[in-house]
Amino acid sequence: MAKISSKSQAMPASAIRKLVPLADAAKAQGVEVFHLNIGQPDIKSPQCALDAVRGNKLDLLSYSNSAGLIELRRGLAEKYYRGIGIDVAPSEIIVTVAGSEAVDLSLKITCDVGDEVIVLEPFYTNYNTFAFMNGITLKAVHTNIEEGFKIPSIDAFDSLVTPRTKAILISNPGNPTGTLYSREEILALGEICRRHDLFLISDEVYREFCYTDEPHFSAMNIPGLSDNVILVDSVSKRYNLCGARIGCIISHNKDVMAAAMKYAQARLCPPVFGQIASIGALDTPQSYFDAVKKEYIARRDAMVEGLNAIPGVFSPLPEGAFYTVASLPVDDAESFARWMLETFRYDGATVQITPARSFYKTPGEGVNQARIAYVLEVPRIKKALEVLRAGLEAYPGLTR
Ligand SMILES: Cc1ncc(COP(=O)(O)O)c(C=O)c1O
Repeated sequence: MAKISSKSQAMPASAIRKLVPLADAAKAQGVEVFHLNIGQPDIKSPQCALDAVRGNKLDLLSYSNSAGLIELRRGLAEKYYRGIGIDVAPSEIIVTVAGSEAVDLSLKITCDVGDEVIVLEPFYTNYNTFAFMNGITLKAVHTNIEEGFKIPSIDAFDSLVTPRTKAILISNPGNPTGTLYSREEILALGEICRRHDLFLISDEVYREFCYTDEPHFSAMNIPGLSDNVILVDSVSKRYNLCGARIGCIISHNKDVMAAAMKYAQARLCPPVFGQIASIGALDTPQSYFDAVKKEYIARRDAMVEGLNAIPGVFSPLPEGAFYTVASLPVDDAESFARWMLETFRYDGATVQITPARSFYKTPGEGVNQARIAYVLEVPRIKKALEVLRAGLEAYPGLTR
């Protein structure tokens, strides 16, 4: 039989989705599964985005420009980015197949096979996957749960830089930790990039989900670094349009954009219905964002308070996104997650969490931690916490 490539055999499976068959099996037994594992928000997409798709009169669904529909690029530049204080021209935006393609392109554009990119661990696990696909090595600066996953000293970055280091890749606010980096921290990261002439790839797909009084500070606004910064963005989280598969890659660096266009042309165009929905979404009223933010603050508070009330569990208070990383009183969070899905039932229910191990690069880190998404309504979060607490009490591998 013909053999698939060794690269495909070695390709890591999605750490976030690999427990899905166990959850499906539990559901097939009639068990209710509380999904604390995935960043799929349950909040409705803006009506204007849905109406744009329903109301369109297209009689031919053709390709768009490889860079995306000009109405979308112009709308993003003039309505969205200008509105949040990011100065960018439509020609500096290429519409991508969501944030995922923008991350992949950023790595392709900045690195050759064998090059290195510095990330802050724990990091969004698909960074690892895209790095693998592009033959890139991730080097991780470690952050601690006890310190709320704050950025450590600058020396931690300097010591990882080698001649093969091409970029620093951050997510702000962060998945999985929900950490929000301040203006000062982003400026400090910019300083390291300036010193070593590295790209700063800033994944800001959770920009609208910030829960402090300080406004989000975009890496695009670091003074004097515009040629080094690449912005990754997406409509998935911002407008609850995960299925639209629309995002963008943005840079003031002309070489970066020219390279991005070559890759974009190779895949012809991003999905057109998704672009139509995204054009509609540009009219989303501020009241939508305000309501979503208020809802997530209530959910975060319920989740973090509830987690910290369980003996042996610790969660910092995340300042952004809709996740937290919690340490659990278990030997191994992956075994616990499996056991919950396969064995444990409480009032006919169980919960699914994501083991945090795969969000770390350093061996042995995060073994007893889990990423918990607070994407359920508060009453369901409370019920899920009750099930989690009961599960921990019954778990044979409990360490507290
Ligand atoms: C930090 C981060 N970046 C990028 C993405 C990619 O999302 P999408 O491809 O839907 O834009 C995700 C999805 O969860 C994410 O958490």
